[in-house]
Amino acid sequence: MRIAIDGPAAAGKTTLARSLAEALGFLFVPTGAMYRAAALACKRGVALGDLDLQVREGGRILLQGEDVTDLLSSPGLDDLSSQVAVESRVRKRLVEIQRAIAAGGDVVMEGRDIGTVVLPDAELKIYLWATEEERARRRHGEQGGDYAEILAGIRRRDERDSTRPDSPLREAADAVVVDTTSRSPAEVLELVLTLVEKARAHPTR
Ligand code: DC
Repeated sequence: MRIAIDGPAAAGKTTLARSLAEALGFLFVPTGAMYRAAALACKRGVALGDLDLQVREGGRILLQGEDVTDLLSSPGLDDLSSQVAVESRVRKRLVEIQRAIAAGGDVVMEGRDIGTVVLPDAELKIYLWATEEERARRRHGEQGGDYAEILAGIRRRDERDSTRPDSPLREAADAVVVDTTSRSPAEVLELVLTLVEKARAHPTR
């Protein structure tokens, strides 16, 4: 089974995808972290043709064989990853890797274009959403810093991610929209687990 989770920045995709994958025993594939690793590779001067990205158990990311997972959530990579993700050459390479991973077994894959481009035949598609203010509030709680700056950063990234010509952030026509604004992570997980059960009981593909 392939579960696609898309949505704007800081909507809770990673939290949901990780806990869902754990609950189901599926592989967790954080494609946002893959774009962040591609941005880090760009900073380190790795040529795109040489890019070696691997996803391991628990969504850990190896770049050129080195586990860089703990470097990827730095705010410095927020904007750079969104800029790198505009490049079609980068997207083509990452989508290839993502599809190869999904061909290997059950996955929960989160990102911006999973239900629309990477896995258009996914058995379940979720579009996770929350108001901008709530998303900024959550990021502020995790990272600290200036709330207004965090909100501006989220707006800037959403604008870039949803207006780029190649694979913009968009909800797939057959995605279930889940508003997480006033739901806890545990409530969102419970709700999505019921959607997984429904998709298993009444497969549409
Ligand atoms: O989910 P995130 O914030 O870690 O993602 C970082 C950036 O990567 C995001 O601003 C847009 C880009 N991205 C993308 O273009 N396509 C994906 N499938 C995942 C992320």
